[in-house]
Amino acid sequence: MSYSTVIEGASFSPSSQTEISYQARQLICLDNNGYIARVIAHTDPDYATVKQTAQANDTLTTLQPNQYVLPGFIDLHIHAPQWPNAGLALDRPLNEWLDTYTFPLEAKYQDTDFAKLVYDGLIQELLANGTTTALYFGTIHNAANLELAKACIQYGQRGFIGKVAMDNPEQTPDYYQDASAQVAVDQTEQFIHQLNELNQTTDLKQTPVITPRFVPSCTPASLQGLGDLARKYDLPVQSHCSESDWENGYALEHYHMRDADVLDHYGLLTDKAVMAHGTLLNDHDYDLFSQKQVAIAHCPISNVYFGNAVLPVNRVLAHHIKTGLGTDISGGYSPSLYQNIRQAVMSSRMLQDGVDNQLLPDKRGVDGSAISVKTAFYLATLGGAESLHLQTGKIAEGYLADLQVVSMQNDFQTETTDNIFEKLMYQTSKADINQVYVQGTRVK
Ligand code: GUN
Ligand code: FE
Repeated sequence: MSYSTVIEGASFSPSSQTEISYQARQLICLDNNGYIARVIAHTDPDYATVKQTAQANDTLTTLQPNQYVLPGFIDLHIHAPQWPNAGLALDRPLNEWLDTYTFPLEAKYQDTDFAKLVYDGLIQELLANGTTTALYFGTIHNAANLELAKACIQYGQRGFIGKVAMDNPEQTPDYYQDASAQVAVDQTEQFIHQLNELNQTTDLKQTPVITPRFVPSCTPASLQGLGDLARKYDLPVQSHCSESDWENGYALEHYHMRDADVLDHYGLLTDKAVMAHGTLLNDHDYDLFSQKQVAIAHCPISNVYFGNAVLPVNRVLAHHIKTGLGTDISGGYSPSLYQNIRQAVMSSRMLQDGVDNQLLPDKRGVDGSAISVKTAFYLATLGGAESLHLQTGKIAEGYLADLQVVSMQNDFQTETTDNIFEKLMYQTSKADINQVYVQGTRVK
């Protein structure tokens, strides 16, 4: 058997929500269809012959002692058009930030050349940061959304892409809104067909996603139409849910229901739905998400600015809710999931200890909230993969070959494997990500 690529080296991979597995030396063998066909341990009798064959075929990549293979990361929530605003105006409340900074920027994607310029740069930046799959909000403009899909194909990233639907004239500016519910739904359906057509040209399929921006941006008619489309085409759905007190209050005031119940009422909470943030979901909502198998995209950096609370990741996981990690560019300032892994751990620690120094320790925080860096790594890999029904996020036979090779600079001590893993999670920067593979193809 000959393989398209054989990587020889050490690896870390999630084995559960709290544990990782480490292999010191192995051959990771990729086939022509972009899958990991075989993982051969150093002790396996076939090791030497497979290595020799790969060497003879010039398909062997042997890593340095300070290099490690990890699964590629999955960004489970990112607004591609907001990339030019990353880091801007994070001191404003959500609705003001949307009106003053975000909608004016997104409106510019009427200009397809501008879209291409931004999206070409963004996809390369994300791949360079080790993000091999991303679930994107686009804009209302299908020509621009197609540019995003083309950039994913050109540079080699697996994209899930949504034409944003936002037709509520009371909550969207007249210069940036769908002209009616019918237009929002028709354009969404048009984008599904356009993307399916584009996919005929590539093996790296891009998936269309039903994308009501969030309850306040949409009318009941568009929510209904989008729910119908999700069922008709059996496609993923994405939106924001209970991100802020303001958003929660909007649903209660206008629908006399909780934000999650509104989305459910219109058929948008399916087992292929990914809801961003959920910082203010309550036990009723957790039960609903769990029963409907809805996933949460945890965006810990963004939540510091707009979330009004910390998502209790352990409580969410205890409810058996699928959970992954998102950057939420530009609600979050960083395109790096490493940064979001770190913030997920830090925020969970602050939730556990509490932050009001005038309270006694036993009243200050929420016991049992701290997550480990291993759990945050799980969110960025397998948790995201499960949320998108993808066979990836893990280094094992039969999984998609979405991988990153990272090098550790600060490797002066003899380390335990846990030490090495923690240092990788906390210290890796873009410059340390040496190789990236998506579906078996090297893209960095
Ligand atoms: N809610 C509705 N739109 C947005 C957005 O673009 N970013 C964030 N963080 N929340 C939203
Ligand atoms: Fe968002």
